[in-house]
Amino acid sequence: MLVLFGASGDLAKRKLFPALLNLRRSGLLPNEFAVLGLATSEMTSEAFRDRLRGELPDSPEHPAELTRWLLERTHYMPGDFRSDELYGRLQERLREIEAGGATRGNVVFYLATPPDFFGDIVDRLGTAGLTAEAGESFRRVIIEKPFGDSHASARELNARLGSVLRESQVYRIDHYLGKETVQNLLVFRFANGIFEPIWNRLYIDNVQITVAETVGVEQRGRYYDKAGALRDMVPNHLFQLLALTAMEPPSSFEAESVRDEKIKVLRAIQPLSPEEVLTRTVRGQYGASAEGQAPMPAYRAENRVDPRSNTESYVALKLVVDNWRWADVPFYLRTGKRLSRQHTDVTITFRRPPHRLFEGTQVADVTPNVLVLHLQPDEGISLTFQAKIPGPVVQTGPVEMAFNYADHFGRTPSTGYETLLYDCICGDPTLFQRADSVEDGWSVVEPILDVWRALPARSFPNYAAGSWGPREADELLSRDGRSWRNPSDQG
Ligand code: BG6
Repeated sequence: MLVLFGASGDLAKRKLFPALLNLRRSGLLPNEFAVLGLATSEMTSEAFRDRLRGELPDSPEHPAELTRWLLERTHYMPGDFRSDELYGRLQERLREIEAGGATRGNVVFYLATPPDFFGDIVDRLGTAGLTAEAGESFRRVIIEKPFGDSHASARELNARLGSVLRESQVYRIDHYLGKETVQNLLVFRFANGIFEPIWNRLYIDNVQITVAETVGVEQRGRYYDKAGALRDMVPNHLFQLLALTAMEPPSSFEAESVRDEKIKVLRAIQPLSPEEVLTRTVRGQYGASAEGQAPMPAYRAENRVDPRSNTESYVALKLVVDNWRWADVPFYLRTGKRLSRQHTDVTITFRRPPHRLFEGTQVADVTPNVLVLHLQPDEGISLTFQAKIPGPVVQTGPVEMAFNYADHFGRTPSTGYETLLYDCICGDPTLFQRADSVEDGWSVVEPILDVWRALPARSFPNYAAGSWGPREADELLSRDGRSWRNPSDQG
C-alpha cells in the first residue's frame, strides 16, 4: 500500500498518480494494491476520488478502465501531519484497508510534503509503531530533495531519520535518477566494450555537464530565493550525473556496489580553497530579457523574490576528480534558469589525434571527437568525428553519428517516477541516494557557499533572460583554451 502524505499537492497530481497509472498499464502493479492519500483538507474518500478523476490524464494510453482501477483502490484521510492523533487514526485505517485488500502489511510512506515535515512525520510514524516491520512485510519511507540546506542540516536530518528507521527503509529520491537516459549512462558505459577503455585521462580532454532551463522560478520564489541554483541543483542532480559519468565499474549491479562507486567519485572531488572559489566558480542572476527577445521579467521581479535579492539563478563550476582515472581532466558543470534553450547533456570531448597527419593541407585544425549524451529534451547519444569532404583536395569536416531514443524505441508515457516507485516497492535502492552521498555532496559545495556568503555578488543581474548565462562562465573555459558546447553548436 502507498500512503501518500501531501496527496492533494502538485507532485501527487502531476507525477505520482499518473506514474501509478503507467505502472499498472505496464503490468507492474498487482491487484492487491491500495493508495491512502493524506492531506489537510476535510474531504471524504469519495470527494477525493471525484477530484482526482478530473485531474488524471485523459489519453489513449490512459483509458477510463485504467483510471477506474486506480480510483477503486484510492482512499483519503484528512489530518494535520504534526498531530499525534492523526497517527492513531492512520493505524486504524491501514488495518481496515489491509483487511479488504490483502496488501500483506507492506507499506510505502511517500512524504510528498515540504521538507520541514520529514522529521516530524517520521518521528510520529515511529512512535505510533507504523514503521515496524513484522515478519516478511516491509515499511519504507520515500522523501525527495532538498535534504537539508547545508552539510550540518543534512546530517541532522539523516540522524533524525536514522533514529526511527534503518537506512534500508529510507528511499531518498533524486528524480534525475528516474530519467531513462540517466540510467542509460550506466548501460552505455558498462554494457559496451568499446568506450570504457578510452574513458579516462589518456583519451578524454574534458567533460561538460549542462542542465539548462528556460523556465524562471515560477511559483517557487519563496523556496528558491533562499536556496539558489547551487543548492537547488548541484549537490544532487549535477553530482549524480557527474558520479555516473566518472565512477569506476562496480563489481556487480547490486545497489551497494553501485552506490559505493558513486560515492567514491564525490569523495575524490577536490574541495575548492577560497581562492579557487573565486577563480573556478561563476554565479549569475538573470535580468530582464534583451530587447527584441520575448519579454521576460528579471529574477528580482519574479513572484515571491526579494526585489534586492542576491541569490544566484545560474552557476558554473570547474571541478577536478582527483583520482588515477581523471587526474587533470576538468569537469565543467553549469546550470541555470531562463537560459536560451532547455537542454541537459553530458558532453565528453576527446583529445585531438596525437599526430597531425594533415598538417600543411587545409585541415590542420582537426576538431576533436565529441560524444554527447543528450538527457533531455531529445534523449539520445551522438558522436562527432571527422570525415573527408568529397573532392580532389583533402579537406575534412565534422560529421555526426546519432542515436535518438524516440526514433528507436518510440515514446511511452512517463513521468520519470515510474521506475523509482517500482524500485521502492520491490526494495531496490540502487537509484536512490544513500545518507552518506547526501552529506558528501554538501561537503563539496559548502566551501563555495561560505565564500559566496562572505562576498556577496556585486554584479547581479549579470545575464539577460533568454541568453546562455554570464560572460564570466565563458571566460572560465576560455582561460583553459576551451568553450562550452551549446546545443546550437551541435547541429
Ligand atoms: C528540481 C529543482 O529538483 O529540478 C528545480 O528544484 C528544477 O528548480 C528541476 O527546475 C529540474 O528538473 P527537470 O526534470 O525539469 O530537469
